[in-house]
Amino acid sequence: MITTQIQNPKSQISNLKSKISQSPYQAYVYSYPHKTAYRPLTPPVNLANLWSNQNKSALFLYIHIPFCEMRCGFCNLFTTVTHNEDFVTQYVRALQRQAQRVKSTLGKSSFARFAIGGGTPTQLPIQHLETILDIAEQTMGANLQSIPISVEVSPETVTEDKLKLLRERGTDRISIGVQSFIESEVLATQRRQTTPQVEAALGRIREAGFPTLNIDLIYGLPEQTVETFLQSIHAALQFQPEEIYLYPLYVRPLTGLGRTDKEWDDIRLACYRTGRLLLLSEGYSQVSMRMFQRRENNPALPVYCCQADGMVGLGCGARTYTDTLHYSNDYAVGVKEIRDILQAYIHSDEAFDFASYGFKLDADEQRRRYILLSLLSDEGLNFASYQQKFNSSVYIDFSELREVKELNLGMEDGEILRLTEAGIELSDVIGAWLFSLKVQELMEGYELK
Ligand SMILES: C[S@@+](CC[C@H](N)C(=O)[O-])C[C@H]1O[C@@H](n2cnc3c(N)ncnc32)[C@H](O)[C@@H]1O
Ligand code: SF4
Repeated sequence: MITTQIQNPKSQISNLKSKISQSPYQAYVYSYPHKTAYRPLTPPVNLANLWSNQNKSALFLYIHIPFCEMRCGFCNLFTTVTHNEDFVTQYVRALQRQAQRVKSTLGKSSFARFAIGGGTPTQLPIQHLETILDIAEQTMGANLQSIPISVEVSPETVTEDKLKLLRERGTDRISIGVQSFIESEVLATQRRQTTPQVEAALGRIREAGFPTLNIDLIYGLPEQTVETFLQSIHAALQFQPEEIYLYPLYVRPLTGLGRTDKEWDDIRLACYRTGRLLLLSEGYSQVSMRMFQRRENNPALPVYCCQADGMVGLGCGARTYTDTLHYSNDYAVGVKEIRDILQAYIHSDEAFDFASYGFKLDADEQRRRYILLSLLSDEGLNFASYQQKFNSSVYIDFSELREVKELNLGMEDGEILRLTEAGIELSDVIGAWLFSLKVQELMEGYELK
């Protein structure tokens, strides 16, 4: 095998020290590369050819539902508010067409995990939710009773009948966006939600018997203090969730809320530190900067990171990951632009055989992605696994990674480089620092619409 050494651009080396003196909240690295680095693929890539040389034995199926009951002021996800039932029906039909086409381009394939995300999947009327499960099972061939399934829900949409359906069809994880148990804090973000409704929804989820409940909370909301954030965590703990995500609020242009200042950084950092300590003292393990898991009763909880290669995304806002190409539909945050993209999606047919928007990962990008995703989770960066996968050494390819250790943001534990406590809280800086120059330039050049 040939060993390829990745040459890093000089400007990328040794600037972590200056980066960490800036805001700890630079870029939420939930995937690499970010969708804003995607561009039109010319010519479009034929999916049957692309998938022909991929390992398809344990794929992750992800179905995206871009509908919500409201548009929260902070949210920059690809989603829309619609009360037009016909439009929703057309969306589900388009999903069905896409699934048929994608399944035939994949050929022999098998799914090891499944997630329905959004937006808010439970915003769908129950008959459509059922169709989505049928698409996964009958069209895509996923064995729903034997693989882990996760579904995202919001408090107001999670009715007893929908929960019953999801549980009966094999869903074992429900992830609910609560954000805060303090009503004035959520209302300030134009999110309509009362705390009694949230508590009733959580009660229904627990009663339905899902093995894993995840609760999303946000810190850095308008008017929120460390004390009120802790109150929200305590309220969440009443429901003994197996997982809790603590998200620092990010505001980006076009999302309704706008704030960037040092005082806000300080509040977010104080919320993070106290929230983290509280969860650790309650027996949770920290999986990443945002994710906490209660593992004592179930050490084998699967981590629903939607980031591994071999992810097949269906739906207008879904991404698909092969090892050499990531692709999706066009991306937008603005209401009209999202509508236009959705309109094009519901009329698509043959277009589902091709990837026409995405990012090609060369050897350097594949390695960066591997490093980023492993370093930012508690799994850590395993040198031997890297060597085996890429036939090369981490420090030869990315000598600048030594800086993570020198700044005490990471520590070597045998063959594994793991972030320290100080490193984990700077995950969003370390992640952004590892972006390639090409990705940084594409992201900067992206015109948000
Ligand atoms: C798809 S939503 C969860 C389900 C459902 N749509 C809901 O909001 O209840 C994903 C989560 O991302 C988080 N999120 C979205 N935008 C965010 C932002 N700008 N800053 C921080 N967290 C954000 C929220 O905690 C939200 O619950
Ligand atoms: S936070 Fe959830 S409910 Fe609110 S707009 Fe985003 S996806 Fe929809």
